[in-house]
Amino acid sequence: MGSKLVGCGSALPKLLISNDDLSKFVDTSDEWISVRTGIRNRRVLSGDENLNGLATEAAKGALEMAQVDPEDVDLILMCTSSPDDIFGNGSQVQRDLGCKHAWAFDITAACTGFIVGLITATRFIKGGGYHNILVIGADALSRTVDWTDRGTCILFGDAAGAVLVQACGSDNDCLLGFDLHSDGHGQKHLNSLLRMDEKADILTNQNGLSVFPPRKSSYSCIHMNGKEVFRFAVRCVPQSMEAALEEAGITASSIDWLLLHQANQRIIDSVSSRLNIPTEKVISNLKNYGNTSAASIPLALDEAVRGDKVKNGHVLATAGFGAGLTWGSAILRW
Ligand code: ACO
Repeated sequence: MGSKLVGCGSALPKLLISNDDLSKFVDTSDEWISVRTGIRNRRVLSGDENLNGLATEAAKGALEMAQVDPEDVDLILMCTSSPDDIFGNGSQVQRDLGCKHAWAFDITAACTGFIVGLITATRFIKGGGYHNILVIGADALSRTVDWTDRGTCILFGDAAGAVLVQACGSDNDCLLGFDLHSDGHGQKHLNSLLRMDEKADILTNQNGLSVFPPRKSSYSCIHMNGKEVFRFAVRCVPQSMEAALEEAGITASSIDWLLLHQANQRIIDSVSSRLNIPTEKVISNLKNYGNTSAASIPLALDEAVRGDKVKNGHVLATAGFGAGLTWGSAILRW
């Protein structure tokens, strides 16, 4: 059984924060941020908005484009590192979409999450028994970022994007080739670690039984060594892309579009130049939304499809990279 991509959608929070807005509360400037990263604006959750709402809206867009009824969805893969609920967001999206025959689970692979989800969806379809799988990439790292740290708070935005992957004849697979990696040695360069409050005293009850009272835990704000992450991305992404292209049996010159995780314009420029892919084939919307983590690829894809750039039959070389460290590429036919 093969898979095809039949719909996409995306959603953004209402609140827009520009570089000039940021420069009012951290020591930075529009010039520094745009020259070093290419980012001008980002959207951030506010009021009663949450990740579930964004993910549901993005998924609705994909279902409408595909003209698929929510009740015909079999599986929802919710790719996120910043769920509203630590136990996962997939089931809430399933409830709110009315996908009553679907089951759902979350995939955590940071900015590589959507690529992992998409590949996972095609494997479920290949195994048989699955016809319509929603893959959602959604993140709200504004909730994890330290808004006093100018080295990280300038980079991130919140968003969701989704695609619907559908079963089809085996000679027409949308996934032409892929390549995935992890390297936990690099965790120190990019993380948001669980921390426990000060160790409490041991309590002894009346029967002499010693217990530890419950301790509160929370996740620290994002810690990032930007230079190391930058070096990792420009070294590993071209290698991964070459491996995926080789598996697909095509060369970089024959792709229609390069769509990388939108982290930094200098990373996008460096990878495209290493792969000899001309600028007019590179999709980039980073300047409007910043790094939206697992949402960045499906968000940019949705804009490119609705903007009539990406057309039926086009081949896209996509790659995600980020915390873990994780990275991977997928060569896709739209
Ligand atoms: N405004 C002004 N100055 C700043 C800012 C800012 N926002 N941030 C840092 N600086 C200063 C630093 O303090 C430093 O000053 P100093 O020389 O006096 O010490 C100087 O600018 C250079 O700082 P660097 O951190 O060395 O700047 P760099 O050129 O490396 O750019 C950046 C930083 C933009 C973060 C870059 O390293 C980068 O984009 N790295 C990749 C990050 C990334 O892509 N992460 C993706 C994965 S995210 C995920 O998976 C969740």
